[in-house]
Amino acid sequence: MRKQTLDKLIQSDDWKNEKHAPVIEAPEQVVKNSYFKVEVSVGKEIEHPNTVEHHIRWIELYFLPEGGKIPQHVATFDFASHGESGDGDDDGVYTHPCSATCIRIDCSGTLLASSYCNIHGLWQTAREVEVKE
Ligand SMILES: [Fe+2]
Repeated sequence: MRKQTLDKLIQSDDWKNEKHAPVIEAPEQVVKNSYFKVEVSVGKEIEHPNTVEHHIRWIELYFLPEGGKIPQHVATFDFASHGESGDGDDDGVYTHPCSATCIRIDCSGTLLASSYCNIHGLWQTAREVEVKE
């Protein structure tokens, strides 16, 4: 049996064409050690289904300092409700796969996001952020 590794299973594409690819919205340049907002979402251009049977379960955000090899885990956003309700109908609460946090960094690097669709698997996106002194 062929050995499987996660890196070969994580898919990637332009989020403008592929509804599963996470979108990272953040400034291209930030001020050193000043908080800035990072928003992550799935389905910004092409909406992803959000049903009990087919939905985005989570998005994770990482930061990789320039020249580094170990990404730092920044945040995990769990989307736990996809319409299910206690009465058996799919008319409950829906969590849209979109969330935000504020971070500060002291060097340039790359924001990396991964997301998980319960039907179509793992996806990733990267976006560079430059720190200006
Ligand atoms: Fe999907």
